Amino acid sequence: MSRSQNDSADPRMIFEADDVAVHFGGVKAVDGLTFGLPEGKIIGILGPNGSGKSTLVGAITRHVPLTRGTLKFLGKDYAGDEPHLVPHRGIARTFQTVRLLEERNVLENVLLGTDSLTAGGRAARRLGQERAEQAMARTGCDHLAKVRPDELSYGNRRRVEIARAIAMEPKLLLLDEPTAGMGRAEKEEISTLMLSLRAEGLTQLIVEHDVQMMVDTCDSLLAMNFGKLIVEGEPREVVRNPAVQEAYLGKQAVKHA
Ligand SMILES: Nc1ncnc2c1ncn2[C@@H]1O[C@H](COP(=O)(O)OP(=O)(O)OP(=O)(O)O)[C@@H](O)[C@H]1O
Ligand SMILES: [Mg+2]
Repeated sequence: MSRSQNDSADPRMIFEADDVAVHFGGVKAVDGLTFGLPEGKIIGILGPNGSGKSTLVGAITRHVPLTRGTLKFLGKDYAGDEPHLVPHRGIARTFQTVRLLEERNVLENVLLGTDSLTAGGRAARRLGQERAEQAMARTGCDHLAKVRPDELSYGNRRRVEIARAIAMEPKLLLLDEPTAGMGRAEKEEISTLMLSLRAEGLTQLIVEHDVQMMVDTCDSLLAMNFGKLIVEGEPREVVRNPAVQEAYLGKQAVKHA
């Protein structure tokens, strides 16, 4: 049986959020979101600045405390997990503001994604090294292995962060504005990488403001405003939706719809 990426018949949800809310005092950053992430798909989140996208990513990785709601990964409620446990479940992320260890070189930063710097015997370390090298090759930073992050361009710092995340061999990858500050050609490289990871079955959730990239890369889009989900569905339809255009997209959406 063929397993086309576009099979829409009842896909399994790898992740489910039910009525998830994150309030910071009076700010309802995320305000009652219910949605699922179908396995093996790329799902995009669109929304204006401050609409709660990064807070949602932080809630999924448990970096941000929930005000209410449940989170399930592979059918298990993990809302009580400490954030350091979440990668072991198979959820990896990158941050909107790149976070690297500046005193370690690129290879060492990526190795952190494999745990092999801190745990395991020689065989585990060798496997970790292989995974790190493969992740660096896929993200185009393998030639930078011995360089320290503070010597890298912004785009390359982002590549290292993505390499560290995929070196974990996650089942769900969350990317918060992975192409911010990149030019069109670099964005296309990231998009190509995401599509090749999808071909291997990796489910991905991406936050981006670049509508064209989102339409070209994602299988479906969630549009947020004021912490709520306003529209969900096929990328072109979401982008054309008047509520989405009014909330956020303006002329950009009309151009790409
Ligand atoms: N730790 C925090 N403490 C207090 N308020 C916060 C905190 N984190 C986020 N907020 C507020 O929550 C709201 C949502 O912020 P969030 O960063 O999730 O938005 P975003 O959609 O990712 O925006 P952007 O597109 O600018 O990255 C904003 O009003 C923000 O100021
Ligand atoms: Mg954000």
